Formats: sequence, C-alpha cells, structure tokens
Amino acid sequence: MKFTIGFEKSDVKRLYEHWDEIISAHKWTEGKFTNLFEEKWSVYNKLYAVAFSSWSTAALAALEFFNIKNKVVLCPSNTFMATPLSVMKAGGNVEFVDCNKFDLSMNLDDLKEKIMIYKPAAVWVVHIGGHIAFQIEEISRLCRENNIILLEDCAHAHGASWNSKKTGSWSEVGVYSFYATKTISTGEGGMLATKNRDLAEYAKQYRNYGKFDYKIQGLNFRMSEFTAALGCVQVDRLDDIVAWKNEYARKHLDNKFSNRIKFPEGMVSGYYKYIVFDPIENSTGKVYDIPCHKIMEKDYRLPNTDWITKNHWCAPLYYKGE
Ligand SMILES: Cc1ncc(COP(=O)(O)O)c(C=O)c1O
Repeated sequence: MKFTIGFEKSDVKRLYEHWDEIISAHKWTEGKFTNLFEEKWSVYNKLYAVAFSSWSTAALAALEFFNIKNKVVLCPSNTFMATPLSVMKAGGNVEFVDCNKFDLSMNLDDLKEKIMIYKPAAVWVVHIGGHIAFQIEEISRLCRENNIILLEDCAHAHGASWNSKKTGSWSEVGVYSFYATKTISTGEGGMLATKNRDLAEYAKQYRNYGKFDYKIQGLNFRMSEFTAALGCVQVDRLDDIVAWKNEYARKHLDNKFSNRIKFPEGMVSGYYKYIVFDPIENSTGKVYDIPCHKIMEKDYRLPNTDWITKNHWCAPLYYKGE
C-alpha cells in the first residue's frame, strides 16, 4: 500500500466551490471559512477551537499563556522534536519522561518520579500513533492533584476517542496538527482546542500580533481562508476516514499481526499508525527512529523508550490506499 493523504476524492468539487467563493469574496484571510473550520472542530471536539498556521504555533500560544518561561515542563522522549522544541522556544526547561511498551505513550510511574524530582509547572502528554495514551486518566488526575498544567499533544490523534471522550478533553489544552502526513490534513495547519475560554481568547489574539490592543505579544500565526476551507471539508470527512481505517485494520491487518498494540475497552484509534512489535515485510518504518533525549544528546535512563525504539514497526494503513 502506497502513502495517501486522508482525503476523499469526491470532496474536490466542494473544495473548489469553497475556493471560488473565497476568490469572489476578496476575503482571503480572517474570514468565513476560518470561523467555520473552528466551529466544526469545536463541535467535533466539544471544546473551544482556534485555528493556527501549524501545531507548533498553536503550542507556543498555549505555553506562553501558561507562562512556562524558566520553568520545567516534562515531556516524553518518544515523540517528535516539535514537542520539546515548543517548550524551549517558549523559554521553558525540558526534562524527559519514559514511555510504556504497550502504548508508546507516557509512563505513569516515571512521571510520578519525575514530578518529585523536577517539580514541573507543566506536562506534555503525547498520544502517539493515533490512539489515546492508555494512562491518560491517571496522568490527568495526578497533574490536577499536584497543580500541574497538563497539555495534550494531539498531532496524531484526530478521530481518537475513549468511551466517546476525545483528546484535548483530559487537560487544559489539546493541540492538533494538519501537516501533510496526518490522518486528515490541510497541508499545513494546527488547531488549539480547550475548555478554557480565556486561553481561547488569548490564542485568537496571539496568532494575530495581539490585535488590537497589543497587550499580547504574538506574531502572525494565522491560517489562510483557502487552508481553512480545506479544513472544513476534512472535518466533515473525518468520521468516514477513521471508520475506513478501523475496518481495514480489522479485516486485513489484525489477523496478520497478533503482536501489536491492543487498545483498551471503549478506545477507538484514529490509526495515524498501525504499530506492531515484530519486524515485518513492507514496513513503513518506525514512528520515531531516535528518541528526543538522544537527538539532544541528553543522558537519561529511559529503558522503555530505548526498547520501543528498537522493537516497533508500522504496517502501511492509508485511507483508500492501494
Ligand atoms: C507528535 C507531534 N507533535 C507535533 C508535531 C508538529 O506539527 P506541525 O508540523 O503541524 O507543527 C508533529 C508533526 O509531525 C508530531 O508528530
């Protein structure tokens, strides 16, 4: 199966109609489709939603809102460098936490230990691979009890749910990416999703230079209307794409790969990746080849992260791929 973007070909017509409308309206940014994309995401996620130019710009907005400058933010090492880099760009200090072998996401016991050692202001949990971190409930409770801000990196997690609860709802904020490989994509783009109305208001100003009172020192992190129109089409198609991927996994992959990630009762994966623990033919490779602490040449003891790096592979699973 070759890589395909999660996009339904028959949606091209609707997309072109939207783009025609944008061209005719002479409103190419800050218009109807940005609002509509946010409204649709808000309905999907049951949270306030603010569209950004990328995951990382939305993440910066959240980290600056919570003022993590000069404070410690815990972060898994088994993630994309975007997660720790967001903290560093916001002026925080990153310390790394181990993951679990069973879900590739944050390990609760190591988190407890690192909270005692580092007294962090915030924690990034990353839902690796399209399912939800299996210990998210406990992680969320632990952070609440210790007055630690929890942020969810939802860059892989479109369409994921656990007993109908969606990512971004366990914490202060969920940040999604619509980069070109994601389960649904707009080429480039991000979404900040939060139940915190003040954060949502801050984010809207932050992505727009703090207009108009300039008390918030943001920059231009807006999404164009053309991208937002694509986002509208993509949100409407998300359930179909995730259902297709789940059916394909059930019918064609699960019987082939018994040594794979097995989800808890009630969890639906968006299947950004289909992850197995044996080397396989035609693998698309690893989610991440090198953990962040190694890339950053930091000396940590993260045995599960090291194990995962060596012992997982991804089977191709792309929407209507052949
Ligand atoms: C886990 C994770 N976090 C953050 C990002 C960054 O997303 P973006 O490229 O939209 O800034 C990615 C993107 O690939 C990712 O995989």
